[in-house]
Amino acid sequence: MEPKIAQKGPFAVKLEAGKNYHWCACGRSQNQPFCDGSHKVTEFTPLSFNAEKSGEAHLCGCKHTKNPPYCDGSHAKL
Ligand code: FES
Repeated sequence: MEPKIAQKGPFAVKLEAGKNYHWCACGRSQNQPFCDGSHKVTEFTPLSFNAEKSGEAHLCGCKHTKNPPYCDGSHAKL
């Protein structure tokens, strides 16, 4: 099963150092780039991660990054 492409580009979000986030891996969440529980009907599970530093981060919206939860430029090839 392929993840749904939520957006062909990253979501710029403000993260807080040390805080835990759940990045949507299935692409179905209505609360991009974060999980809203929509993966339950898929084989995907969200990626739990702790922000290393406070500030803006670019989280993958296409769900095809090789470096989740971060955008690695893979969206340009979709
Ligand atoms: S948005 Fe997915 S790799 Fe850039």
